[in-house]
Formats: sequence, structure tokens, C-alpha cells
Amino acid sequence: MRFILTEDYEELSRRAAEIIAAQVREKPACVLGLATGSTPIGAYRELARMYREEGLDFSRARSFNLDEYYPMSPDHPQSYRYFMEKNLFSEINLPREMTAVPSGDTDNPPETCRAYDAAIEDAGGIDLQLLGIGQNGHIGFNEPDDTLYASTHLTPLTEDTIRANARFFSSAAEVPTHAISMGMGSILRARKILLLVSGKNKHEALKNLYHDKIDPHCPATFLKLHPDATVICDSEAYNG
Ligand code: F6R
Repeated sequence: MRFILTEDYEELSRRAAEIIAAQVREKPACVLGLATGSTPIGAYRELARMYREEGLDFSRARSFNLDEYYPMSPDHPQSYRYFMEKNLFSEINLPREMTAVPSGDTDNPPETCRAYDAAIEDAGGIDLQLLGIGQNGHIGFNEPDDTLYASTHLTPLTEDTIRANARFFSSAAEVPTHAISMGMGSILRARKILLLVSGKNKHEALKNLYHDKIDPHCPATFLKLHPDATVICDSEAYNG
């Protein structure tokens, strides 16, 4: 695991965007694994700027998002599909039909999950997977537990996660209780991993990445098994 410490969120976002842009330039027909949440917004903004001002070209790339609430319609303003449209897809030239987000309105979640992993494999696997981290150490919606899922799956959200995400809804009662999420195997099969950690509230989760232990109660620690994982953290996350 490689750590990059940045002064602040702006620098973290710039460094993350540079790594993603380098991937797109090196392999224009690359497969990007994308995340939602507040952390990647700055990097997405910077990628949009690079598209507008520097001609960064996403026209041959494709993407798979990590997760989606369930049940959730794609046009709901809190859906992850809607988030991606607003924060990235509408700002760059990644063809819409090349973007995939697990469908939160499926009536057959097991089949949707199976097909999602199959689609990633058919696309040749993910070249670069962008990740945020939950305060409880989750990645995607792989929540701390005695055992973790390898494949894309339907999962209940923990109370912690529902509380943390309630800020985007009018109340915690409105946060969906489940999500469809890539599993640990789906994530770890990506050729490169880029984990962004920003803010004081991520300090405890980040500390679990420094020592040598792997712990399903902090799913992000499994990234230590990956041969090419980069963690970019800002000084607030680092110092706590
Ligand atoms: C989002 C995702 C989540 C978030 C994590 C951090 O697609 O999979 O694991 O990355 O909850 O969220 P923020 O960035 O809002 O702190």
C-alpha cells in the first residue's frame, strides 16, 4: 500500500484526478470503477475541468459504479445514478451507454448482482477502482462483519451508515435500508486501487490501514492484500 499525504482536500482531489487522468491517457479504452459520496466530488470536478480545458478524452472509456441504494429508482435525486449524472457524467464525454451503476429498482437482485460481476468481467475487468472509506471502515457497502462478501450482493446497511447518510435525506427514516454493492472480490480484482480519505472523521478508519492486520471489521484493511493500492489522505484525516 502506498500512502500520499496531502495538505488539504483540494490537493487530495487534484492528485486523485491526475492519477485517473493518467489512466485514461495511457489506455483510452480503460474501465474505471467509480464511487459516490462527498469525498470524490473534488476529483470529479477536476476531471471535468481537464476535459473542458485540456481535452482529456473519455470517449472510449467505460465505467462501473461500486454501489446503489436498494430499493431506489435511478431518477431519485438521492440515487447514486443521479449523483453520477450530476457530478461527473454530464460534465465529461463518457458515453452514457458505457456507464454502469447497479440497478436499485430491479425486481431480481440476485440476478442483477450476478449480471453486474459478469459485465465487469466481459469488459475485461476494472483498470482503476476509485474508493472512499466509511467512518466504520466500509468500502462500497461492504460493512464491517465477521464475514464479507466476495461478489456483488444485496446488503443491509448498518445503523452507522444509515446515520452517516441521513444528511442527504430529510430524515434517517428515509434512507433506504439496503444497497447493492460490489463485493470485496469484485473490488480487489481491479488492477489498480485508489482510496481517498479526507477529513477528521476518517482518522480512526485510516489508522487501521497503517498496521499489518487484516480485519473484516474494517473491510478497507483487505486493500493491504492488493499489489497496487494507493491511499491519498489529507492532513485532517492523517492528524485527526
Ligand atoms: C460510495 C461508497 C461508500 C463511500 C463511503 C464514504 O459509492 O461506496 O463506501 O465511499 O461511505 O463516503 P463519503 O465520501 O461521503 O464520506
